[in-house]
Amino acid sequence: MDVASFETRLHELRKRTLAAVAAAASLEELDAVDSGVLGRKGELRDLLGGIGALSAEDRPRVGALANPVREAIEAALAERRTILEGEALEARLLAEGEDVTLPGRPLWRGSRHPLPETEREIVRIFGQFGFVVVESPEVESDELNFQALNIPADHPARDLWDTIYVRPPGDGMASAAHDEEAAAHDVGSAADGGPRLLLRTHTSPGQIRAMRDSQPPIRILTPGRCYRYEAVDASHGFEFFQVEGLMVDEGTSMADLRGLLDAFAHAMFGAARRTRFRPGYYPFTEPSVAFDIGCVVCEGSGCPACKRTGWMTILGAGMVHPIVLRNGGIDPERYQGFAFGMGTDRIAMLRYAITDIRAFLANDMRFLERL
Ligand code: DAH
Repeated sequence: MDVASFETRLHELRKRTLAAVAAAASLEELDAVDSGVLGRKGELRDLLGGIGALSAEDRPRVGALANPVREAIEAALAERRTILEGEALEARLLAEGEDVTLPGRPLWRGSRHPLPETEREIVRIFGQFGFVVVESPEVESDELNFQALNIPADHPARDLWDTIYVRPPGDGMASAAHDEEAAAHDVGSAADGGPRLLLRTHTSPGQIRAMRDSQPPIRILTPGRCYRYEAVDASHGFEFFQVEGLMVDEGTSMADLRGLLDAFAHAMFGAARRTRFRPGYYPFTEPSVAFDIGCVVCEGSGCPACKRTGWMTILGAGMVHPIVLRNGGIDPERYQGFAFGMGTDRIAMLRYAITDIRAFLANDMRFLERL
C-alpha cells in the first residue's frame, strides 16, 4: 500500500465515521461508533497498523494525514455526545414531570408563637436563680385548686375565680379512682361519688403538688394553661396562661421576693424599669402584694394603658400562708416561702404591644411569621 491509498482510505473512514456519529440516536450507539473506530481494536488503529510496510520517510507522512482525521472524529464525537446527553436529560426530566425552568419555592421560615416565646423567657430568667420547671395537670381537683390553698368550699374568696367544673366520666373505674382520691384527701365528694374536678383556674395548685412531692429547699415554676368561666373581652380570655413560682426554705423573706421580682422585671422590661409592691389580697399568701412596673407605654407619665397611674400590675405574690405550707406537708415553724403568679398573656401583650388577648389564640398567621 502506498501513501495515496492510505489517504483514500483515511478519507473514506473519516466520511463514514462522521456520518455514523451524526446518525447515532443514543449514547449507546455513539459509544459503539467511538470504540469501533478509535478503540484499541478500532478501524483507525487497524488501518494505521499497516504503515509498517511503508518506507521510513512515508510513515510520518501517513501519520500527518491521520492526525487531523482522528481529531475531526474526536471533535464530532464530543459534540454529538453533548447533544445526546442533553436530550437524555430532557427526556428524563419530562418523564419525571419536572419543569426545571420554574423558580424554586421559597423556604418558609416561621417563628415561635409569642406565648411560648414569652413563657420560655420567663423560665429562662428565673432559671438563673435556680428555679426549675415542674408540670401540673390542667384538670385539677377542687381540693388542690382551692381548699389546700386556703379557699374553703363556701368561702367568698371563691368568687375571685369563675370556675369551669368537670363531670368525670361515669364508668366504674373512674369512679373508684375518684372515691379513693376523695378518701385519701378527705374532701367532700360530688353526688356521683368522686371529688369535684375542675379546669384549674390558676397554676397555684402546682404549689401544693410541688410541696407534697419534695422537701425544702424548693424553687419551682409551674407554667401552663388555665381556664375560667369568664366574660371574654380584650383583656380576659376563658383560656389563658400563667407561670407560678414557689420558693420554700429556711429564712425566706419578703426581701428575697422583692429582690427576685425586681431582677425579673429588669431582665424582662429593661434595667431602668421602676417597680413597686402594693398591698394585695390572696387567700394563699400573707401578706399579699401586687407587683407593679412603670408603665411600658408612657414610661410613667400617665396614659390610658395605665389608667393614668403610671403603673401596671404584672403579677400577684406574697409569703406563703402557714396553712398552705402545712397543707403541703411543710412545717411553717421551720420554713417560710414566697409565691408569685403571673399571666403569661399579659407579659406577652406588654412585650409585643398586643392590645387584645383574644389575638393569641385566633390562629393569626402573623404571629408565626415574625422573624
Ligand atoms: N393565683 C393567683 C391568680 O390567679 C395569682 C397569684 C397570686 C399566685 C399570688 C401566687 C400568689 O402564687 O402568691 O389570680
